[in-house]
Amino acid sequence: MSKIQAVIAGISGYVPEYIMTNDEISALVDTSDDWILSRIGIKERRILKRDEGEGVTYLAGKAVQDLMRKTRFNPLEIEAVIFATSTPDYVMPNAAALTAYKNGMTNAFCFDLSAACSGFIYALEVATSFISSGKYRKVLVLAGDILSAITNYTDRNTCPIFGDGCGAALLEATSENVGVIDSIMRSDGNSLASLHQWGGGSVFPASHETVDKNMHTIWQDGKVVFKQAVSQMSDTCLELMERNHLSKDDVKWVVPHQANLRIIDAVASRMGVSSDKIMVNIQKYGNTSAGTIPICLWDYESQLKKGDNIILTAFGAGFTWGATYLKWGYDFCTRQDL
Ligand code: UT7
Repeated sequence: MSKIQAVIAGISGYVPEYIMTNDEISALVDTSDDWILSRIGIKERRILKRDEGEGVTYLAGKAVQDLMRKTRFNPLEIEAVIFATSTPDYVMPNAAALTAYKNGMTNAFCFDLSAACSGFIYALEVATSFISSGKYRKVLVLAGDILSAITNYTDRNTCPIFGDGCGAALLEATSENVGVIDSIMRSDGNSLASLHQWGGGSVFPASHETVDKNMHTIWQDGKVVFKQAVSQMSDTCLELMERNHLSKDDVKWVVPHQANLRIIDAVASRMGVSSDKIMVNIQKYGNTSAGTIPICLWDYESQLKKGDNIILTAFGAGFTWGATYLKWGYDFCTRQDL
């Protein structure tokens, strides 16, 4: 019997309509378009305004509807929905169950996954294991965030970076030699001081004090996170390439988490992969945390071909990080009518 592979059978995404420019950020904190563009690589980001919609499940719903249109999957056939997010609509119930309910995936069991910016690759790992076990054949992976809900717009070290967006990937079982081939997933919990949101959990439940002290927003030591992101993402990518006998020429695309263009460039240079193979859209959307990788795949979908060797890599709070090697599952040109 041939091995069961888990393949991405369709990809979609959604970003909110409102475009927040660097000039708008510069009116809030002491920064400039030039500084943000040269030090981070971001020109603008999307922000969900309440007159458009509410919550990350709104973005997920838009992505799921587009994915249904493109792949014509039957929502009743989805057996599990995994939603990687740090900004669910509510503390409970989970965002996966709400999204499934609103979009007719009523036969699925649903849960959220918390791995910050590494959420998509972690969720892909879980979905792949479900499918290769033979028990499940169709799993929906959602990954995205409304980072504007937890951004401190008085802190110039963080507020230029973040944006809102969500991706959706349909994972299916296949016996073809495509899909997720290998991965390396890592965590280091000894990093709480470097990247966190203190408030809203069981140590600091919401109170007047937590609100007054801005504890419900993200804080980071940018330099520490920067260095760790570069070394951990490039090391896991190189290890993954080596153990799968992939040369830099064998790699068709690298999809790095979009946190800082200088991080992306440093990872590409350590991998020895040329810049034309690196997916980059940080200039348009900023860092959407769990959303960056599926949103990149969605943006570049028309350039992807069946069998392309792709490496995904991410780094985020936890710390969490890793890399996934997959072979792309379909030619976009065969779906041009969708
Ligand atoms: O998604 C995972 C989580 N996040 C990341 O991966 C982000 C990782 N870190 C970074 O991307 C970068 O460290 C930042 C973008 C956060 C900061 O960039 P940097 O080049 O590392 O700046 P820095 O912290 O070394 O600061 C250099 C200078 C400082 O001024 P002085 O002390 O040299 O006078 C900062 O105060 O730049 C100043 N600065 C700014 N200036 C204008 C910091 N933020 C800003 C700003 N505008 N927005």
